[in-house]
Amino acid sequence: LEPPKIVVPKRQQEQEVDDGKKKVTIFFGTQTGTAEGFAKALLEEAKARYEKATFKVIDLDDYAVDDDEYEEKLKKESFAFFFLATYGDGEPTDNAARFYKWFTEGGEKGVWLKKLQYGVFGLGNRQYEHFNKIAKEIDEGLTEQGAKRLVPVGLGDDDQSIEDDFTAWKELVWPELDQLLRDEDDKGVATPYTAAIPEYRIVFHEKPDTSAEDQSQTNGHAVHDVQHPCRSNVAVKKELHTPESDRSCTHLEFDISHTGLSYETGDHVGVYCQNLSEVVEEAEKLIGLPPDTYFSVHTDNEDGTPLAGASLQPPFPPCTLRKALAHYADVLTSPKKSALVALAAHASDPSEADRLKFLASPAGKDEYSQWIVASQRSLLEVMEAFPSARPPLGVFFAAVAPRLQPRYYSISSSPKMAPSRIHVTCALVYEKTPAGRIHKGVCSTLPADPKVPVIMIGPGTGLAPFRGFLQERLALKEAGTELGSSILFFGCRNRKVDFIYENELNNFVENGALSELIVAFSREGPTKEYVQHKMSHRALDIWNLLSEGAYLYVCGDAKGMAKDVHRTLHTIVQEQGSLDSSKAELYVKNLQMSGRYLRDVW
Ligand code: 2AM
Repeated sequence: LEPPKIVVPKRQQEQEVDDGKKKVTIFFGTQTGTAEGFAKALLEEAKARYEKATFKVIDLDDYAVDDDEYEEKLKKESFAFFFLATYGDGEPTDNAARFYKWFTEGGEKGVWLKKLQYGVFGLGNRQYEHFNKIAKEIDEGLTEQGAKRLVPVGLGDDDQSIEDDFTAWKELVWPELDQLLRDEDDKGVATPYTAAIPEYRIVFHEKPDTSAEDQSQTNGHAVHDVQHPCRSNVAVKKELHTPESDRSCTHLEFDISHTGLSYETGDHVGVYCQNLSEVVEEAEKLIGLPPDTYFSVHTDNEDGTPLAGASLQPPFPPCTLRKALAHYADVLTSPKKSALVALAAHASDPSEADRLKFLASPAGKDEYSQWIVASQRSLLEVMEAFPSARPPLGVFFAAVAPRLQPRYYSISSSPKMAPSRIHVTCALVYEKTPAGRIHKGVCSTLPADPKVPVIMIGPGTGLAPFRGFLQERLALKEAGTELGSSILFFGCRNRKVDFIYENELNNFVENGALSELIVAFSREGPTKEYVQHKMSHRALDIWNLLSEGAYLYVCGDAKGMAKDVHRTLHTIVQEQGSLDSSKAELYVKNLQMSGRYLRDVW
């Protein structure tokens, strides 16, 4: 669901004072906050190293209100760094999407960025097909458009240690900046740098200041976004697998009546979950303060000036320690190296401090990967292992425990059937879940003309958006609209165990919302039957539908399924269309370019 658009007036000619200082702009395209965190870390370190230059960090979406302003402002930049994450199927993050589209598709611009010197660091995962696609494209595009690359594009790999990749990339950046930003009169030695540990200013309150808390927790907030989620009750929670299953797939319905939210078929919803009470209690013990300690976190000094040297997330509302730990601290992921450094700084036992510093150092790399990453040791477990490391609240929430992030799900309902409910079909079970922001899914558009045929491929929870599509088609049908043909390829292990929504799907067929349901059962017979095998059996039908202008949607696992389905599609096009391999590739590319081959994969 689209949060209400905030109209940002074109800023009144932001007056950049020319103070003769060199200016460096650090952009980020972030979804879960990692790219933003790296951008701010670079800023802090650069500020400390080059006192005579000025640095700023900017969200790509906030930089410009339209394409013209992107152009106008970028032209004036001399030094820029870009931190760009790549998602699922080679997508930019939401906040970089507009910039990316303009930069890569906005037409011939020629060599217009001659003034700019830049570096790009990408955040991606090598397990995925389009590893760091966005960063690579922007990096190449900048060079093509005349800018000077200062360092090779950094290819951060989340499958290994992305922090190490960032550290290694920074080591290439400093010598370049030493050349460019150092003062004429110093002797070429940049200011030595030790990372400052971020820390909120904490104010303890005698009595709970419930007015402030209420404001942010009720649905009174005018705009719901990732910082201001809205609370919604779970109206329905149902297990979709039969008891024989050793896995779980949950159907949830969030009640959005009275929230002012609305959504469209194919949207995603971001869901914040809170930590389980056992987890919270354990964290309380480790922190060593009473659970009802009431406090607020601040990013400014008492006089309102910003805290020095801090790159801090916006504060969360005043609340008890118990609530802060339940809602805002991710204590179950493995601690980052920067968290270990912060713990070390507050370890009263010197041997513990040394050990923590070692784990965070380049020399301790292997041990960090073994003891923390490979064994998936949580922050709580690490804190248990270092009983003397007890950071104060301001450090704990700013530098040790990352903020809990929302998880995104494809919505599995249609507002035509369920206007006040958001249905989600997920493979994880949540406790209480206040729902948050919803953004556009990649599969979001059913063809505007309902007579256009659709082919849907969605095994497992990949079925979710298609259930929404089918609800929508059923509602259209019931209103008398004529529908084109539609096929759904669904896959699961066993009809009796994990054939989710079986009755509903059969009903869609009976009522004419779905022309055909084709199911691949992977663990019923002697050999694996997957959706792509079923597609091969139906090659001619798929080809005919595509020739009639069908839309093809794929949703689900990106690493295996979507790749295999892509290959199968290529083969179908090649064989049925009697094309050679490169012509077939072009055909599939054209499908993609014209928005008729859409993938929502993760
Ligand atoms: P499996 O678990 O028996 O391997 C939904 O998860 C369904 O997708 C399951 O039947 C699963 O089969 C199947 N699946 C696993 N890998 C797949 C792939 N590469 N392509 C298509 N389906 C796959």
